[in-house]
Amino acid sequence: MQVHILTLFPEMFQGPFGESIVKRAVDKGAVDIQLHNIRDYTHDRHRTVDDYQFGGDSGMVMKPEPIFEGVETILAGITQLEMATTRVILTSPQGKLLDQKMVEEFARQRYLIILCGHYEGVDERVREHLITDDVSIGDYVLTGGELAAMALTDAVVRLLPGVVGKPESVTRDSITSGLLQHPVYTRPAEYQGWAVPETLLSGNHGEIGRWRRERALERTLRQRPDLLSKAALSVEDEEFLEGLGWKREG
Ligand code: ADE
Repeated sequence: MQVHILTLFPEMFQGPFGESIVKRAVDKGAVDIQLHNIRDYTHDRHRTVDDYQFGGDSGMVMKPEPIFEGVETILAGITQLEMATTRVILTSPQGKLLDQKMVEEFARQRYLIILCGHYEGVDERVREHLITDDVSIGDYVLTGGELAAMALTDAVVRLLPGVVGKPESVTRDSITSGLLQHPVYTRPAEYQGWAVPETLLSGNHGEIGRWRRERALERTLRQRPDLLSKAALSVEDEEFLEGLGWKREG
């Protein structure tokens, strides 16, 4: 997969993409991440990327010309057939909330172009005529779209073939299964008087499986009850949750 990121601050990406799993994925050739400075697509002496907003109001708006030129330059390196399926993603607080399902869909593409929004936003013609997906990573406002682009790229890269060692660690993880992850423990079996739950030390895999499922259900009910309406629940799961006061919707 090729990920092209259009940003005003390419240096911001050096740290997060230069470490750990993303770095390994790049080194292995599982992903090719290319950073493009939007200022390189300006043609005036001041390399202007923003301007005042029509209609008044404070805050600058990202100009359309360097963005169109940047995206068009990247697209010029992509064949006609693949161009039609290339996703051009804007990161902005107005976007659709990113979830694992969207990440999975992005991970199936051969090319992603991510445009990091800034200031008061980007000229609406960019959204209307260039962007295929407007993505937010949460209901809070960041100083810019770079951190969102990093989060999105990171989540996509870990799904690419060969990036995370065991495929189960990707399919069984938190959220992918529709539930939050159960608690996990490692050695020592007792730390400061706090013991690891006995079931986990029992060697009884049936019991351990049940314990994990129940803790995942319990945690999801407490922290993210909204996920339960979409999770695949067995009759036993539902009975367990009902015992904790949960009621099925509808
Ligand atoms: N830019 C600023 N805030 C953002 C958010 N929450 N998600 C994506 N991009 C952003």
